[in-house]
Amino acid sequence: MHKTEATAPGKVILFGEHAVVYGQPAIAAPVSHVRAMAKIETHEEARFTLHTPDINTTVEYEDAPQDHPVAAAIRQIQQAAHIKQLPSLKVTVTSQIPIASGLGSGAAISAAVIRALVQYLDLLHLNNDQAISDLTYEVEKIHHGTPSGIDNTVIAYEQPIYFVRQHPQNKIERFEVKRPLSLLIADTGIRSSTKVAVGDVRRQWQADESKFERLFSACGRIANQARQAIEAGEIAQLGQLMQENHAILQQMTVSSPELDRLVTVALEAGAMGAKLSGAGRGGNMIALVEENSQEGVREALLGAGAKSVLMTQVQVT
Ligand code: PMV
Repeated sequence: MHKTEATAPGKVILFGEHAVVYGQPAIAAPVSHVRAMAKIETHEEARFTLHTPDINTTVEYEDAPQDHPVAAAIRQIQQAAHIKQLPSLKVTVTSQIPIASGLGSGAAISAAVIRALVQYLDLLHLNNDQAISDLTYEVEKIHHGTPSGIDNTVIAYEQPIYFVRQHPQNKIERFEVKRPLSLLIADTGIRSSTKVAVGDVRRQWQADESKFERLFSACGRIANQARQAIEAGEIAQLGQLMQENHAILQQMTVSSPELDRLVTVALEAGAMGAKLSGAGRGGNMIALVEENSQEGVREALLGAGAKSVLMTQVQVT
């Protein structure tokens, strides 16, 4: 009996969410200690089953709906590798990544399934980070409509990345992180649909292109300055840039009273900077902290209603 396993990390967007959909640069980093895991085994019966024990469900692959996250990932591989009939498999997927909160849980599940199946089937030409990222992107399109591609990229590469959506090929650059960044990721507990938030921004952009183009370019400028600050280890400046980015996201109407409150509380408790992260309207915010303020900020966030606070280090590994 043959078996393979693969995992993929969560992620946070540090700078440039939403504007990245419109071709502006953005920065994201993996959150490696929360992961999605996929296990692929030969089935002992002539069946192909998908198991998601976290939500207590099992479905037959051929009966799974078009948007079933695991089935959609497997179908992408079938298409890409021109495989008509897959062998009888048992696919089990679990995840520690909170869903619908901007940590990339969907993309991580897809990436883990794709990586595990590529290895199981020994598809050498697809067994690399870029191919895993590209296939994950195709699944993201089913769920989100017009994803920028940043989530699948940072999750497949598992490194901090500077990303620009462009044709024919996205710009994906790794960069130096002079001093590792300590981030707290606080969850408002409010689930928010990326598709809805991205759609709302699009409608507002269509209604007032010049205003939104200005906001998007400002996010792009901030992302570029942030990359330089990270490369130079200038933490105070980086914190300031987070504030500026959050203010623009507020103008795009993707913040919320809960996100704003957590941002304010984090700053009052001594964070160097704080902003919402991801699609907004709910989900997570991030706070940049130093060793001596970390615990105080964490407690302040929990006291202000954060449902959970994760700690992560942004660094090149
Ligand atoms: O998946 P989330 O919630 O981290 O949001 C993705 C970030 C957006 O820029 C809002 C959308 C995208 O496709 O880049």
